[in-house]
Amino acid sequence: MAYIDYEGDKDRVYSQEGRGETLTDVMNRRFSRRAAVATGAGAAATIVVGNAAASTPVASPVGSPAASPVASPVAGGDSLAFGNIGLQSGEETVVAEGYTVVPFLRWGDPLFADSPAFDYANPTAEAQAKQVGYNCDYIGFIPLPLGSKAADHGLLVVNHEYTNPELMFPGYLQPNPEYTEGSEDIPEFLVNTTKAVVDTELEAHGLSIVEVQRNASGAWEVVLDGKYNRRITATTPTVLTGPAAGNEQLKTKEDPTGTKVIGTLNNCAGGTTPWGTVVSGEENFNQYFANLGKLDAESPVAINHARYGLPEGETERQWETFYDRFDLAKEPNEPLRFGWGIEIDPLDPTSTPKKRTALGRFKHEGITSFVTTGGKVAVYSGDDERFDYAYKFVTAKSFDPEVRENNLDLLDEGTLYVARFNDDGTGDWLPLVYGENGLDESNGFTSQGDVLTFTRHAGDVLGATKMDRPEDFETNPVNGKVYLVLTNNNRRGTEDNPGTDEANPRAENTTGHIIEITETDGDHASTTFTWDIFILAGDPADEDTYFAGFPKDKVSPIASPDNITFDTNGNLWISTDGLPNSFEGMNDGIFAVPVDGENRGYLRQFLSSVVGAECSGPVFNTDSTALWVSIQHPGEGGSFEDQVTHWPDGEGSPRPTVVLVTKNDGGVIGS
Ligand code: FEO
Ligand code: CA
Ligand code: CA
Ligand code: CA
Repeated sequence: MAYIDYEGDKDRVYSQEGRGETLTDVMNRRFSRRAAVATGAGAAATIVVGNAAASTPVASPVGSPAASPVASPVAGGDSLAFGNIGLQSGEETVVAEGYTVVPFLRWGDPLFADSPAFDYANPTAEAQAKQVGYNCDYIGFIPLPLGSKAADHGLLVVNHEYTNPELMFPGYLQPNPEYTEGSEDIPEFLVNTTKAVVDTELEAHGLSIVEVQRNASGAWEVVLDGKYNRRITATTPTVLTGPAAGNEQLKTKEDPTGTKVIGTLNNCAGGTTPWGTVVSGEENFNQYFANLGKLDAESPVAINHARYGLPEGETERQWETFYDRFDLAKEPNEPLRFGWGIEIDPLDPTSTPKKRTALGRFKHEGITSFVTTGGKVAVYSGDDERFDYAYKFVTAKSFDPEVRENNLDLLDEGTLYVARFNDDGTGDWLPLVYGENGLDESNGFTSQGDVLTFTRHAGDVLGATKMDRPEDFETNPVNGKVYLVLTNNNRRGTEDNPGTDEANPRAENTTGHIIEITETDGDHASTTFTWDIFILAGDPADEDTYFAGFPKDKVSPIASPDNITFDTNGNLWISTDGLPNSFEGMNDGIFAVPVDGENRGYLRQFLSSVVGAECSGPVFNTDSTALWVSIQHPGEGGSFEDQVTHWPDGEGSPRPTVVLVTKNDGGVIGS
């Protein structure tokens, strides 16, 4: 069991739940329509009702014989040649044959020549400030020198989403004397925290920037005296920029300017801009702020906090005990200064990170850039909540490929849009502009700053499509299509919750899906698009799964797709977060699938992470000969005194770790 659920009601840690009813009739109707739009072979042949494979055990290896064999993968039909490893369990990472995976950056590893050595028995704030942070997530690779295509030298920029103090600190969980075996309402353990623990947690959040290179023998190494190496944490000074900066609701007692924020929190997915900065998404910021119940429930700020899921009483982490800014009763506006996309210039270690309010405020994911045909920049971002929205921002000015300086504030001016997925396979980007379409005083908006701070409310007013937890959202540099990953939504169609629609076609969608978007005229600044379901994840033996029309008896099981990236051939690589909730006892992993050609939809598993962990942040170097992957929260569900695993060291606390994958012959990953 898990003691603490840091995803709040998103239940990353949840018990095995029902897989949802089978909707054969609905699916057949849906895909007969979809088949008319789909590209690639065999789109209509994918719903094989009554296929004998449907009785295959959930965690069966891929390739279980079906009663009526369907076409095999086309030899040479795609550029992926690794052998599918299938679902795996256990305490060690597993990678496809012919590849090697090694721990590369562990929580607590030194980032500077003078960093203290890691001491799992006594983590301190002072040491943590100079070490790799906890719970690695997004990873960006920026070649050095900037603008080059260097494949053997660069910067890794790594998000550290949150901490698992129950795994990190001795004595953090204490037995609850009131608990008796089987009590459902009384917690078995109570949190026992201190200011020293909280200060260490603050330093373990944020990001790490670290120079990496291939050494003379060809092995990747960290450059400990690299001049760009930097930690950004929950105590680093940052600024708010753009239309909402300085707005009344962003002012606090400590910051009457409404522009200066201490730290960044819950940095989850992110993206690298064409000018070599990173925009990192502040996701579940709600979990850090206590006592919503002490505000007037009818006040605008309380209504806003409620829409973003802030807790009524104390937080699990209890930071509010030591710092007033985490207590809404004392500082009601502080949470409004989180939930932004924060841009960091890794090439200037003295630069102040900037929270770009023009990108809107929500549980940011993705924040990935693509230069439009007209030279502007489109930035895609998801809001990871059940029934929340997918967004795109388009800059007002054009990207300047010659003068980097000219791009450094590009994200302060432009138009934010929210997505409406129409049931006929078309879609609209609805502009979130103050004064237009009800985003005015009649709905409580008095400025563009309001629209951007209360972005979820603005999306509600415009009638945006309520999605199944939008996470990563990226443009494929090879085919120009945009892929939106919906991790899951176990409440779709339940009780009073919204039912299914064509873009979120499954009730109780526990296994997630991926939507493929084609911007009109291939222009990423367009305000209209068409879309299709690319993958409905889950057990391929289940009728309500779909793999772009590829024969389902040949693909790997997958669930809860979360982060994506693309290799140099345009293949889609997917990491998962929550797969064990659908395939009990199995671990999250990395999967790859061609999006074009004869084998479109032929999904295979490449890597498996370890017990308790999610996989996140996959990124390749520039020639796809190196792949870094975050193994986040290994051993989640245990406690310091009762660890589920000691990975990767074999002793002490489990350590969230960026692992490095290389091909043994030095070739392109996946080939
Ligand atoms: Fe932090 Fe949406 O995953
Ligand atoms: Ca994530
Ligand atoms: Ca990504
Ligand atoms: Ca997640």
